[in-house]
Amino acid sequence: IMNRNHTTARIAHVFSGTFVHSTPRAAVEILQNCVLGVDDKGKIAFIEKHQDVVSLSEIWGFETSDIKQLGQYEFLMPGMVDTHIHASQYSYAGTALDLPLLEWLNTYTFPVEAKYKDLDFANDVYTKVVRRTLKNGTTTACYFATIHTDASLLLGELADRFGQRALVGKVCMDCNSAYPNVKPVVTPRFAPSCSSSLLSELGEIANNNKLHVQSHISETKEEVELVKTLFPGCKSYTDVYLKHNLLTDRTVMAHGCHLTDEELEIFRETGSAVSHCPNSNISICSGILNVRNVLNHKVKLGLGTDVAGGYSPSMLDAMRRTLDTSKALTIQDPQHKTLSFEEVFRLATLGGSEALSLDDQTGNFVVGKDFDALRVNVCVPDGPIDLFPGEGDDRNITEVYMAGRRVVPFPDT
Ligand code: GUN
Ligand code: FE
Repeated sequence: IMNRNHTTARIAHVFSGTFVHSTPRAAVEILQNCVLGVDDKGKIAFIEKHQDVVSLSEIWGFETSDIKQLGQYEFLMPGMVDTHIHASQYSYAGTALDLPLLEWLNTYTFPVEAKYKDLDFANDVYTKVVRRTLKNGTTTACYFATIHTDASLLLGELADRFGQRALVGKVCMDCNSAYPNVKPVVTPRFAPSCSSSLLSELGEIANNNKLHVQSHISETKEEVELVKTLFPGCKSYTDVYLKHNLLTDRTVMAHGCHLTDEELEIFRETGSAVSHCPNSNISICSGILNVRNVLNHKVKLGLGTDVAGGYSPSMLDAMRRTLDTSKALTIQDPQHKTLSFEEVFRLATLGGSEALSLDDQTGNFVVGKDFDALRVNVCVPDGPIDLFPGEGDDRNITEVYMAGRRVVPFPDT
């Protein structure tokens, strides 16, 4: 048993039972008969075998009667990381999937996003999207808001209030120190809607302030062609962002369906990440990202829902669509090595935290990281599955913790 290093920390929760998470070595590691302690700062203090519980209770000063015992059909897993979601598009999720990207933006997206100058409208949609994603187990979300500063600040406030770790773009440097788990992310929408001077300024802001960066890249072929004509001096779409100093080890670029191997090399060298958004890629017919090829290039990759190009706010849906897309590639080419569900579990948790450069804080159950966790019960009353065992949905997530704080069930319900 480890020594107790942070001597002032008190233990706030102790869970006993089964823990499932990913490590760099194992896509899925199942820890049975273990105890996990969370300190009063929300950090994981220990994770040890249950047989050592008596000495642990003496070292850490908790009562064994306070231990939360997980049931026979329960386990804890890390909270999931949505590396790309448009909070502002949640109001029309599940509709408007009949046009390709550039027409879709003009016809549906831009008119809706213009409504966020109205803070009442923003409050209604942003409250709903934060609550819905939290209930579905997204403890970390990387959000696009809109061009409206007040509404973007409101989204950060709501994430903090409901207890979701978040990166929020539109640029909002003035809230950098306001919330411990909500940060601004520099957000050029995508190259076609940004001038070279805007991109340069955003690159400078990001680098001078060590901020995260998010954008879209190579989602559709038409967009790639458009970028060629708009930035004739750049070798590739990736080169556009590279030249404007927007590719850093805190950058996440959504989609990347049509990136070349040379472009993936640049991602690896700069430490930039790809957010794979399979529901969106299929729903608006953008392309099929070969995740295996991205991983083979040692590029960081997480999963994103991309609401509302993707119709589902659920990361479990993003995991399923990731598997479907990988299998579609195997149908086309039997040599393609299909992603396993274990690998996809890792992409939804640890992979996402790496893609957002938040893996020092979240992503798996490692001592010193924040306790972001989902309590899963495969056997809830009136649940969606019979025990063989089967699939499940948010009804099986009975509790959600972010930084040690229980955020689901909602305090008002
Ligand atoms: N590219 C630029 N803006 C957007 C957006 O809102 N959604 C998607 N899917 N792609 C984009
Ligand atoms: Fe998007």
